[in-house]
Amino acid sequence: MGKSLLILGAQWGDEGKGKITNYFSEKADYVVRYQGGNNAGHTIVFDGKKYALRLIPSGIFNPKIRCVMGNGMVINPRAFFEEIEELQKAGFSCSNLYLSDRAHVLFDHHLELDRLNEEALKEKKIGTTKKGIGPCYTDKVSRIGMRMCDFISDDFPSLYKELLKRKNQEILSFNGTPIDYEKTVKEYSEMAKKIRPYVFDTIALLKEARKAQKNILFEGAQGALLDIDFGSYPYVTSSSVTSGGAISGSGIGLKGIDEVLGIVKAYQTRVGEGAFPTELKNEIGDLLRERGHEYGTVTHRPRRIGYLDLVALKYSIQINGISSICLTLLDVLGGLKEIKVCTSYSYKGEKISTLPASNSVLKECTPNYVSLKGFQEDISKVKTFDELPENAKKYIEFLEKELEIPVSVFSVGPDKYQTIVRKEIF
Ligand code: GDP
Ligand code: IMO
Ligand code: MG
Repeated sequence: MGKSLLILGAQWGDEGKGKITNYFSEKADYVVRYQGGNNAGHTIVFDGKKYALRLIPSGIFNPKIRCVMGNGMVINPRAFFEEIEELQKAGFSCSNLYLSDRAHVLFDHHLELDRLNEEALKEKKIGTTKKGIGPCYTDKVSRIGMRMCDFISDDFPSLYKELLKRKNQEILSFNGTPIDYEKTVKEYSEMAKKIRPYVFDTIALLKEARKAQKNILFEGAQGALLDIDFGSYPYVTSSSVTSGGAISGSGIGLKGIDEVLGIVKAYQTRVGEGAFPTELKNEIGDLLRERGHEYGTVTHRPRRIGYLDLVALKYSIQINGISSICLTLLDVLGGLKEIKVCTSYSYKGEKISTLPASNSVLKECTPNYVSLKGFQEDISKVKTFDELPENAKKYIEFLEKELEIPVSVFSVGPDKYQTIVRKEIF
């Protein structure tokens, strides 16, 4: 039987999904992205080199792996070719890329509208990556978007003209600069021609893969708490980040996923606005930011830092059906005297253990912490669980007990092989 594993972020993104997907890709025949676009930034380090992937799945370095960009994704063709070019310069052909004919195309007007929307929101801005993600998914849901199959068809110029007319009205309503059709249609038509060889019916491709008992890895972008339905709305992204999104964004079918591995950073980070109960606006936060190099891969913004939040994590485990955890950046906690973990919130004097739907309620929640002893040792060269210092082991065991699922994998550094598998999952 072919195996399948879904790797997804259990927090607010940047948990190390790219690194872990790349690690497990050694056993994969397919690596599938199913949502998001180039708002993602997945860092991968191997053979002393560092790569930052945005749109392209983290299996791209092995030409034998088929890398699928699923129907749930939004693709900026310009960003797509820029990324391919970078990879080709580094010696990776990218001829193993399969882009869904149902994925949506992200245009310049989406970038402009993202910028204008954020500007109009003023102090209520989302803090988006300004990659046009929200406006592109908005068009998809409004049923006026453009899919890859139409982008590469002969009808593209007329479809684009119609679409742009409508979108320029929206841009003008914000006092923005309309997009010039004559100028852009030429560039987009050229890109459409160039993208054609990458476009496939990826639903049929995945069906074939399942039939041939291939091993399939699914790679989430963003994190569960940024999901359009389950996240801290409206401070979320516009796609279905959680495991349901892996089904609807790839076409694999409900029974196509065997295991769900939740990637969990040993502490918590967030980029952009929105409530963050365990946020540390102090020297501990600053220390973790520097030690963990917590600056955005895409926007280079400093990430907000906090202690691990088990209220949010338990919620994330439930909504995703996470079967085990991969705990990343554990090494970054080394040197702390104590490690705090949030186990419940206080809201207006009452203790709550579930994640409130409202961002304004969550903003008023204060964390109740359990304090664990820290570890002082450098753990970046550890190869087994047993080699970990006692207090690091206790941290992992505490999480397993609280979350009631195993920590099957942990990570002690950015390199691919600073990964320790405790229980075979793929
Ligand atoms: P992703 O978006 O989930 O793929 O995560 P990012 O790549 O945006 O952010 C994770 C960052 O942590 C990257 O810079 C990784 O190289 C780095 N990283 C991943 N795992 C570890 C780890 O276990 N320890 C340390 N120190 N860094 C890690
Ligand atoms: P990876 O895959 C962290 C955040 C943005 C903003 C919100 C909406 O690297 O984990 P968007 O541009 O998507 O409309 O922004 O979502 N965000 C991320 N935060 N990691 C990501 O991706 C993110 N992608 C979007 O900062 O708060
Ligand atoms: Mg990232």
